[in-house]
Amino acid sequence: QELQLSLEQIEKGGYDHFMLKEIHEQPKAITDTYRGRLLANEGIIRMAGIDDHMNKFLNAERIIIVACGTSWHAGLVGEYLIEEFARIPVEVEYASEFRYRNPIVTSKDIVIAISQSGETADTLAAIKLAKSKGAFVFGVCNVVGSSIARETDAGAYTHAGPEIGVASTKAFTTQITVLTLLALKLASKKGQLSKPELRSYLQQMQLIPNKVEELLKIDTKVKKIAAVYKDAPNCLYLGRGFNFPVALEGALKLKEISYIHAEGYPAAEMKHGPIALIDENMPIFVIATNKGHYEKVVSNIQEIKSRAGKIIAIVTEGDTQVKEIADHVIEIPETEEAFTPLLTTIPLQLLSYHIAVMLGKNVDQPRNLAKSVTVE
Ligand code: AGP
Repeated sequence: QELQLSLEQIEKGGYDHFMLKEIHEQPKAITDTYRGRLLANEGIIRMAGIDDHMNKFLNAERIIIVACGTSWHAGLVGEYLIEEFARIPVEVEYASEFRYRNPIVTSKDIVIAISQSGETADTLAAIKLAKSKGAFVFGVCNVVGSSIARETDAGAYTHAGPEIGVASTKAFTTQITVLTLLALKLASKKGQLSKPELRSYLQQMQLIPNKVEELLKIDTKVKKIAAVYKDAPNCLYLGRGFNFPVALEGALKLKEISYIHAEGYPAAEMKHGPIALIDENMPIFVIATNKGHYEKVVSNIQEIKSRAGKIIAIVTEGDTQVKEIADHVIEIPETEEAFTPLLTTIPLQLLSYHIAVMLGKNVDQPRNLAKSVTVE
């Protein structure tokens, strides 16, 4: 029998879809992102785009992050990271809002523009506006030589490699990796972190790719959960702190490829509205890592339980409390709370993928969506 492989099949490297390939590439992509930058033994982070402009960063009164979609979610994680570690005030804006609302921007601001493609029209326009007002603009892009990479004053590439699937996966985790390095670097320069503290964070960071690799092995379990909830018309995603943006990203991943309506919320916001939606037909994905306001999230989970909602919880391994209440539990390896988005994201990506495949949707090219949004 003649062996016929299309170019596309070869490019997919044995996976059924680019999205699944890209999900599985994350351990390598994250490593590629910090390679040459993260020097754990020396306790140093080397990033030329920051080193060359260190005074600007150290004197910045504020950082404004502009982006769209998944990149905006990475920006929200960046806000939590930069404020937590470097203690610089951060605002995160949708580029499309920022560009048209006559924002107050001065030469004392640093604008960080995040974009996988480097071609998103709204993000590009936001950069031009920020530059015209005298701000220093730093880009976090994946595509080398892209319009945004060229338009920014300095930057850091994510080095995720080509992302073909319209649903962003490895671009998200590598953007978070860059933002983590940036936050830790600024923190140590500003004296917020001692050398031993920085070294310990960097050592933890270096363990992340292996932990992602471990997590990818739970694919069969995630697939079983996907089979249970694939016909749900609505889903809720809840997370707190560093994992609030992951809840938003989980919901976006599900809606864009499976066309199931999904909403992400900070867990504590549930009682301000979304709780009204909860009944026995509502699956709720809750991120409840052990150091992330755990007890408060557990009480949210109890509230869901008492309204008969279905709970799929992402917990830290060894968890016992949530296991007793939740319908399904997915465990992530232990790490610093600030690094958990790099782990909690993975099962949510897999879950969306499997649901979309089970529903027969076009995973890599969902309807109405383009990989690069070069028009407003
Ligand atoms: C992500 O899954 C989406 N396809 C979309 O939200 C995307 O992140 C957004 O269009 C921004 O793209 P960019 O990162 O290339 O600027």
